[in-house]
Amino acid sequence: MKKIEISENIFYVGVNDRRKTLFENIWPLPKGVSYNSYLIKDSKSALIDTLEFGSNDDYLSQIDQLLDGGKLDYLIVNHMEPDHSSMIGILLKFYPDIKVVGNNKTFKMLEAYYTLSPNNFLEVADGEELDLGNRKLKFVMTPWVHWPETMMTYEVNSSILFSCDAFGTFGTLDGAIFDDEINFEFYEEEARRYYSNIVGKYSNMTQKALSKLSGTKVNIICPSHGPVWRSNPAKIISLYDKWSRYESEEGVVIAFASMYGNTEKMADYVARLIAERGIKNIRIYDVSKTHPSFILNDIWKYGSVILGSCAYNATIHPNMESLCNELEILNPKNKKFGLFGSFSWSGGGVKFLKCFAEKMEWTIVSEPVELIGIPNEAKMEKFEELAKNII
Ligand code: FEO
Repeated sequence: MKKIEISENIFYVGVNDRRKTLFENIWPLPKGVSYNSYLIKDSKSALIDTLEFGSNDDYLSQIDQLLDGGKLDYLIVNHMEPDHSSMIGILLKFYPDIKVVGNNKTFKMLEAYYTLSPNNFLEVADGEELDLGNRKLKFVMTPWVHWPETMMTYEVNSSILFSCDAFGTFGTLDGAIFDDEINFEFYEEEARRYYSNIVGKYSNMTQKALSKLSGTKVNIICPSHGPVWRSNPAKIISLYDKWSRYESEEGVVIAFASMYGNTEKMADYVARLIAERGIKNIRIYDVSKTHPSFILNDIWKYGSVILGSCAYNATIHPNMESLCNELEILNPKNKKFGLFGSFSWSGGGVKFLKCFAEKMEWTIVSEPVELIGIPNEAKMEKFEELAKNII
């Protein structure tokens, strides 16, 4: 790989993964993902995070070439989820004297995953510094962004923040590594999808981390997924701030589960009523076709949500249940909510959605619309109230 220098003697040694279909074996990767790792060459050299095991055969030789006969002294583990840590075992085989730098939560988790010797561990505390020679690293504890042990590493001399999952995106780095080399429009959806799917559950902790970093000068952000922000780091900081405050845009997401097409007709009907009232961002999803990952992304983006489900064996359609389950886990807040459904011989879908709304603490804007059999205009009248109130 061509040498990519972020700043003097700081190198990008990450890789693109275009083969994996599901991140964490859950989230689709239509545009792939990058695992970013960084090498700081100094009197004492340090590698910041590793890669997913098997994602790059050349990783060690690339590090070796850049070190040019020099020693690797430290591996900084900002976060030990396997997409960043699963090369540690093999790295230690090549560099057995390396010190693995983490905090008081890191090592217990590392030992649960890998066979490592505590002799290799170097524990650091919040605010502690590590002198590499010309460069100095400072460690900032940012728990739960995304796991309890997560921390960031700040390079003091050039104000570079190695932020791990924070400020990351899905999507491979197709030639371009830096924010000024990309058209961010391509990444913005994937950045929000990454945030809402992976980090969003811990939005309050993201806010704490942002507030902790607010007085720190940041020239470059080097996340562990997606572009390196060297020209406009404020852009991704402000997006993460917006998403973690649950600030939404005007728009309505309508997701439906329909076995025979009746509930789908209801979705189209209410969407038309909303469009007539001037709302331009309306997104309709069939939960049997679209993975919850993408629906969740739009729900994070827009302020209003309408869910509709047919009944299925006296309860809700399983694919809608699956979406509701993901929403409960990842917990987007402050939504206006409407619900509807249909049934043939017994209800179940709407009843489930009512309980779901209570658990989510979303505001139900009007009475649910529930009908039997095939919809007609008379049965749809109650949608007028839903369409009026949801906006
Ligand atoms: Fe990219 Fe939480 O790992």
